[in-house]
Amino acid sequence: MLGPSGCGKTTTLRLIAGFEELDAGAIEIGENLVAGPGFHLPPERRRIGMVFQEYALFPHLTVEQNIGFGLHRYAGDVRRRVATVMELVGLDGLAQRMPQELSGGQQQRVALARALAPEPDVILLDEPFSNLDTGLRARVRSEVRAILKEAGATAVFVTHDQEEAMSLCDQVAVMLHGTVQQMATPQQIYHQPASRAIAEFVGDANFFPGQADGQEVECELGRLYLQYAAKGPVDVLIRPENVAVKPVASSATPNRVRSVTFYGHDQLVSIELPSGHMLDARLSPIYNFAMGQPVSIAVKGLVMAYPRSGD
Ligand SMILES: Nc1ncnc2c1ncn2[C@@H]1O[C@H](COP(=O)(O)OP(=O)(O)OP(=O)(O)O)[C@@H](O)[C@H]1O
Ligand SMILES: [Mg+2]
Repeated sequence: MLGPSGCGKTTTLRLIAGFEELDAGAIEIGENLVAGPGFHLPPERRRIGMVFQEYALFPHLTVEQNIGFGLHRYAGDVRRRVATVMELVGLDGLAQRMPQELSGGQQQRVALARALAPEPDVILLDEPFSNLDTGLRARVRSEVRAILKEAGATAVFVTHDQEEAMSLCDQVAVMLHGTVQQMATPQQIYHQPASRAIAEFVGDANFFPGQADGQEVECELGRLYLQYAAKGPVDVLIRPENVAVKPVASSATPNRVRSVTFYGHDQLVSIELPSGHMLDARLSPIYNFAMGQPVSIAVKGLVMAYPRSGD
């Protein structure tokens, strides 16, 4: 579940977990109704595991005791189950440590192990990586994905970070202003966003006014081809990755490089077009562009178009 701060992500998780009561609608987990009109199954009967932003480990309990905490009603062998999940999340040998003797990534894995231990039907994760630094975050993220896949657990993962949502999840629900506005694969969310607002939220977006006619659209960048047929005035979405840029002689083009932002793995090059419109292109970091460099531009692939806002 991906959305900006304050859009209602945590509230939705709290509703699923049963910490909040519904005003309307219903929640089913699998085939089972857990909340509906006049019906509210208490949290402890929903078979849900939760991992919060701040891990919320018990500081006075060892790793092993933290993980075993939710197992007081577990039907099987508690010790064996704790050992199994510790192995699953890669915490072997740390059973007797106290939480403050662990790194951030290790604490995160204890929280995950604790949530997985009772074999819940669903695991809810609310921005669980937000206090990890960038490098560790990327590693723990792919670890957690692998652990959840191996455990066969269904997980609802909340984040406001689009990269995290797209790299971690099979399905992304984009939430804006309290409602889910699109639910699809990461590829679809990125390449076929259902609205201009979603396109802008899930990545960098260039928009150009254009005139659509069937599969084609005319705009300042020339005649482009549409993913979906449209007619009339539209805003054309062009992702920076879909722009090819080549240095040329100044007599050949009025397009000029106006700024370059270097990111290491790539660079964002802003190009001023004859109309004064800026076009951002994401390019390999190996190219060196001078300010004012004249360039030719080509748009690669099919584009999306949205009915012109205000029309
Ligand atoms: N207990 C509450 N009572 C009234 N309003 C609340 C309560 N909790 C949250 N809100 C409001 O509901 C909206 C959604 O809050 P929520 O915590 O679900 O957002 P979020 O998407 O998780 O944001 P963030 O990314 O910042 O954690 C916010 O406008 C918030 O101010
Ligand atoms: Mg929140």
